[in-house]
Amino acid sequence: MTVCSAPGKVYLFGEHAVVYGEPAVPAAIERRATVTAEPRSDDHVRVEATDLSLDGFTVEYSGGTGARPDVDVPTPLVEAAMGYVDAAVRQARAAADSPNAGFDITIESDIPLGAGLGSSAAVVVAGIDAATRALGEPIDRRELADRAYRAEFEVQDGQASRADTFCSTMGGAVRIEGDDCNPIDAPNLPFVIGFDGGAGDTGELVAGVRELKSTYRFADDTVTAIGDIVQTGERLLAEAVPEADANRELLVELGELMDFNHGLLAALGVSARSLDAMVWTAREAGAYGAKLTGAGGGGCIVALDPTGEVEVALSYTQGCEDAFHASLATEGVRVEE
Ligand code: PMV
Repeated sequence: MTVCSAPGKVYLFGEHAVVYGEPAVPAAIERRATVTAEPRSDDHVRVEATDLSLDGFTVEYSGGTGARPDVDVPTPLVEAAMGYVDAAVRQARAAADSPNAGFDITIESDIPLGAGLGSSAAVVVAGIDAATRALGEPIDRRELADRAYRAEFEVQDGQASRADTFCSTMGGAVRIEGDDCNPIDAPNLPFVIGFDGGAGDTGELVAGVRELKSTYRFADDTVTAIGDIVQTGERLLAEAVPEADANRELLVELGELMDFNHGLLAALGVSARSLDAMVWTAREAGAYGAKLTGAGGGGCIVALDPTGEVEVALSYTQGCEDAFHASLATEGVRVEE
């Protein structure tokens, strides 16, 4: 039995603009998906999933030799989760050159599903790592990140960026520009996440920005402006020193950039009332900065909170279903047992 876990992520800067070749900086957070893989003597795949959303649920299906599971599932989100698991199994089989390998797989996750925190990427990354290791054929991190990306690409019909899977594999903060992905240095960042209980439709939101961009010059300029913010943010992160207390001014500036980034995303039409409400609550409670994370439309915000006050303030905010601390996950995918 092999157990691997991989973290979720927030976008510190750069979502949406990254689609048009601007750089983006996602950062891994200490909320993990944990996948257990046990090879079977037949070619079946059996998946047990619990806690894939904050509400929690349990799903089991048996059988399957590579086709997308055709089973009754309680919600579209669970169905999507099963698709990711199956794609991960296929990548693991290909990596280990074992096309008929069967597995018993258990998934646990404390990352809200489909809310901009990279839940599916974490499941895919941990799943491929656990399954290849269980077969005695571990792969290196670059290959793992690449295979996880391909699994997401397949499930999302070609609408995937490398950001989530690369960040979940490597941990820490990473820089994405097109297909070019690299880890970057970052200090410990005191993140607080606010979750409105919903999820935006990434495809629709990306299409909306594309339309806006082709219609209005301001939208084009906004995308470029987000790219500028990302580059400034990267320079700040590179100046950080290991002692957390010495980074106060830098965190203040990073927070300011997050505020700018949120404003620009709102101008592109991808925020929502619930996200704006949480962003303002976080700022008023003392956060250095706050922004939506991911595609937007609903889902999560991320705040930089040195005070410890923001989580409670968010939990009293109308439209906020859950709020939690999530420090930077310096470790990406790892073996748990
Ligand atoms: O919601 P997420 O975490 O899948 O992020 C979407 C990020 C976008 O930039 C909007 C789309 C993309 O593929 O990069």
